Amino acid sequence: MAKHSYEALKARCDASGQAQLLSDWGALSEAERAALAADLEAIDFDFVASALKASLAAPTAAASGGEARPAEGVLRLDGPGAPSEAARAGWRAAGLRLIAEGRAAVLLLAGGQGTRLGSAAPKGCYDIGLPSRKSLFALQAERLLSLQRLAAASAAAGAGAGSGAGGGAGGGAGGGAAKPLMWYVMTSKFTHDETLAHFRDNDYFGLSPGQVFFFQQGFLPCLTEGGQVILEAPSKVAKAPDGNGGLYRALRDGGALADMTKRGVEALDVYCVDNALARVGDPEFLGACWSGGAEVGARVLAKAHPEEKVGVFASDGEGRLQVLEYSELDPEKASATDPATGTLFFNWSNVCMHYFSLPWLARTVEALSGPGAAYHIARKAIPSKGGKVPGIKLEMFIFDPFPTAARTTLFEVARADHFAPVKNAPGADSDTPAAARAAVLAQGARWAAAAGAEIEGGCLGLEIPPALSYAGEGLGKLLGGKPVAAPGPWLLKADGTLMSG
Ligand code: UD1
Repeated sequence: MAKHSYEALKARCDASGQAQLLSDWGALSEAERAALAADLEAIDFDFVASALKASLAAPTAAASGGEARPAEGVLRLDGPGAPSEAARAGWRAAGLRLIAEGRAAVLLLAGGQGTRLGSAAPKGCYDIGLPSRKSLFALQAERLLSLQRLAAASAAAGAGAGSGAGGGAGGGAGGGAAKPLMWYVMTSKFTHDETLAHFRDNDYFGLSPGQVFFFQQGFLPCLTEGGQVILEAPSKVAKAPDGNGGLYRALRDGGALADMTKRGVEALDVYCVDNALARVGDPEFLGACWSGGAEVGARVLAKAHPEEKVGVFASDGEGRLQVLEYSELDPEKASATDPATGTLFFNWSNVCMHYFSLPWLARTVEALSGPGAAYHIARKAIPSKGGKVPGIKLEMFIFDPFPTAARTTLFEVARADHFAPVKNAPGADSDTPAAARAAVLAQGARWAAAAGAEIEGGCLGLEIPPALSYAGEGLGKLLGGKPVAAPGPWLLKADGTLMSG
């Protein structure tokens, strides 16, 4: 590195109280100096200092959870007050119209590492052992293809019959022409290259490359309690991803928000990569949130049991929507029940399937990209050049800004059709690849039975490729009257034959 650049670097570090970062400079090789300089140039020291200050001063949702009350106003699946079939059909139609018109898009959070899953590859590349051996990314991409087809068919039918179904999605889709459904994929330094390679190697799973927009989330340096940046090695800063709430800064820095704005996207369906049943872009959910004028929405499920590792929706002291994360919620609070009903007090779990209106998102990106945003503080042993040292990682959670939403929609969904988390390595007690595989095969068997197939008792189920059916529709021709023998499992082919898995 040229002398004058070293001096500029030194001046920056000195001015930020980070002189320790250059203490080994004299002993470093040219290559090491270049690596350290690149690491340091990527850090906005003022931003980091203000983030740490704000994070130390601000209580997290769990710390303020003392005042939290159960979330209210959930749109229930059934029981008294549940929406009618006609209302649901109206939401579906509205959602499909938003998609066909290019006013709704889908956003995937895929920056996390599969540490608990024990996989070095991005979680989206994981094969849960279905007969097709498709990865999670492949399943999700095929669902998008099907959904896009349904939206186009609905637009074509609407163009023929005139528009008017369901709550306020605006005019028709221009004579049945449907736009491609945009898929925004957030990766991180850990997952970006392999994710891209997986998409390329699989020809984008049939999607057009132009409808997939990749962008990377950022990193923050690991800090001492006093705010000193820690060096992992003499020429390398210790860094950590900024959590899935890093989405907000990344949307700005990676150009995704600008792209959405340019395309006229007004509503986003946002989800986590590690759910084998993720019904991506669910038009009914999109339509319900849109029709209700929500700024933020979420699909919710009744918690399976008190210890389930899920965040729970709550209402804060001022009646605003918040999520209490499982890692921060006091176990006693997590298992407390409502004496009147016997159900869990905090019963509505976060399955990480969110809805954002673009105006809310743009406002939030603006608010969280500047100085003063508060992060969750994780105190961890950080590997450093002198061995492990106590330090701080700053992480934002995607739901941190939810309390700023003026209108919200919580929408109950059926676990068996929406949530099969792939979190833990094979052999664990819960949330394993095998459990997710069984859930996908069971859903296929239910859809097949509904389409008229005869499922033999003891059959292990049926994989229905999402490219053939998004939510169980259109299977009568392929499966009506067809015997599905035990044990299986089976894979349904596009010509209606069943292949043993
Ligand atoms: C998450 C939710 C939790 C919910 C559960 C349901 C958050 C903060 N927590 O918990 O409330 O009940 O899912 O399954 O949302 N990710 C990134 N970048 C990161 C970290 C994570 O993109 O820096 C992505 C992951 O790729 C994944 C998602 O965020 O798609 C959730 O990841 P993870 O941190 O494993 O969430 P959980 O702890 O399971």
